[in-house]
Amino acid sequence: MTINGKTTILGLMGDPVEHTLSPVIHNTFAEACGINAVYEAFNVKKGDTENAVKGGFSLGIQGFNVTVPHKEDVIPFLSGIDPAAEKIGAVNTLVRTESGYKGYNTDYLGIMRQIRKCGFDIMDQNVIMIGAGGAANACLAALFELGASKVYILNRSIEKAKEKFGSDNRVEVLPLDGFGNIPGEGLFCLQCTSVGLSPDTDRAPIEDEDFYKKINRAIDIIYNPAETLFMKKVREKGGRAENGMYMLLYQALISFKLFTGHEPGEEALKLAERALYEKTYT
Ligand code: ATR
Repeated sequence: MTINGKTTILGLMGDPVEHTLSPVIHNTFAEACGINAVYEAFNVKKGDTENAVKGGFSLGIQGFNVTVPHKEDVIPFLSGIDPAAEKIGAVNTLVRTESGYKGYNTDYLGIMRQIRKCGFDIMDQNVIMIGAGGAANACLAALFELGASKVYILNRSIEKAKEKFGSDNRVEVLPLDGFGNIPGEGLFCLQCTSVGLSPDTDRAPIEDEDFYKKINRAIDIIYNPAETLFMKKVREKGGRAENGMYMLLYQALISFKLFTGHEPGEEALKLAERALYEKTYT
């Protein structure tokens, strides 16, 4: 690809960004789609969000992904916000408009798409979500959008989870060892804590074997390692478990479409998946 005066500039703003895989994915999409665009990672410190947004706009940057610590901080500096992102209270994608950037949350859309791709139907079902940190807001919104009737949130810090999500009467917050209070079996579980992430691969957020008897379908938002201890435990009890690699790919794919108007096809997705595999697992 030749970078020239017409190249569309895209990027990620966050801190840290040194290990991000987003440039690999988006630059693969751009090449596969034959689009003259380049995606870079910009380290933007907390407190510098407004300067980065204004500077990016003045420089003609077409779009940004936004990550920690700016996903909430960026909202006051947008010219518009997608209703779903507004409801979630976090933005991970900025798309240039005439008057400024419009904010979207493609994390939430990516999670929904992966759950659907796995064929996990959660319509009118009780489901379990482990975790109440930064990733949980988009995860919870996705579960309800896919029709979950009730979400049992298991979290280490009960008070924090209750403060964030307790006011929703479709949510029940329980401690990590409180899973015995969840009715039913054969449940779907979305694991959205950071426990088990490489290099701490010998840990799972819940170790008790009885928990894994309750669930038969699960997604771990972690994708490194490829099989987390949580996934292994689900599989050992005969359930299906997937890692979060497709969530990452889909949120990028949806952002890329918002940035450029082009939706990467199956071939582009496969190329990006292969590039991610090489970066992550080899
Ligand atoms: P962030 O809040 O930035 O998403 P985090 O601090 O790693 O990232 O927390 C994400 C989730 O992982 C939270 O649900 C957190 O539980 P708390 O709300 O109790 O902090 C959970 N988590 C992180 N480390 C954990 C651990 N060692 N055991 C159990 N849960 C843990």
